[in-house]
Amino acid sequence: MHEGTKPTSQEQELRERVALVTGAARGIGLHIATRLAESGCTVVLTDVDADGAARGAAAIGGAASALPMDVRDRAAIRDTVQRVLGAHGRIDILVNNAGVLAQGPYDQTDGAAWDELVAVNLTGIYNCVQAVVPSMIDRGRGNIVNLASVSAARGGGSVGNVWYGTTKAGVVAITQGLARELGPRGIRVNAIAPAVVDTDMMKPYLTEAVRGAICARIPLRRLAHKRDLGELAAWLVGDRSEFITGQTIAVDGGLLST
Ligand SMILES: NC(=O)c1ccc[n+]([C@@H]2O[C@H](COP(=O)([O-])OP(=O)(O)OC[C@H]3O[C@@H](n4cnc5c(N)ncnc54)[C@H](O)[C@@H]3O)[C@@H](O)[C@H]2O)c1
Repeated sequence: MHEGTKPTSQEQELRERVALVTGAARGIGLHIATRLAESGCTVVLTDVDADGAARGAAAIGGAASALPMDVRDRAAIRDTVQRVLGAHGRIDILVNNAGVLAQGPYDQTDGAAWDELVAVNLTGIYNCVQAVVPSMIDRGRGNIVNLASVSAARGGGSVGNVWYGTTKAGVVAITQGLARELGPRGIRVNAIAPAVVDTDMMKPYLTEAVRGAICARIPLRRLAHKRDLGELAAWLVGDRSEFITGQTIAVDGGLLST
């Protein structure tokens, strides 16, 4: 799109695009997949929870489909990407959403939990990028959105701990570095950094007291909604944001400004 041309309508703008979303069986990933599909995108929901991904695709309907994919498993990812490329011919959009959380003080995350945080939140993105980007480079276009977190800015925070926040800071760095390297190849890379969203990941920790304390610190006085993230994701992967890359955009009701 050139300066001065009219943007395509929001309803139509992703009609010709194919998106692969990781961790899409529930929560933020499922919502983003649903929102992209509403803009006409063909979405492939992937998750280690194969049944959940299949339920999500059935709920979305239309051209949505599901494939089991553990972002820790390089061979499985290569296989999944080949299947998607075989079925649809391309992957225009990669949403690296799969993630796991650790909570509590630094000494309450054991070695196995740290290994899991790194394997899913960081190596998972590495694996998916390495598998998907070559086909984007071949076509000279592509769009990647990573799920970071406001906890990246302070090494943990409201609920996620220092180790979780550290992996999310890595996601911010991946986003900047890949944007620099892939921009000349026609590929944009951005990240979304939500404050706390009420999903299955957070539910065990969101007592009324904790929820109230978090909302009291947020200038807009509420948690993030999944729709806040879906709207931003749809904008980031569409042409209306065509000059935006390398950015991590906080969706936090002003939390990081306090
Ligand atoms: N909920 C929040 O408050 C919040 C805030 C900031 C960032 N985030 C980030 O947003 C993303 C989504 O979070 P959510 O709240 O929807 O979490 P969630 O736990 O509700 O959903 C995560 C999904 O990822 C899947 N998953 C986990 N490990 C996987 C693996 N190895 N391979 C493939 N899929 C895997 C799960 O099966 C699940 O469907 C995560 O990256 C999370 O860190 C969430």
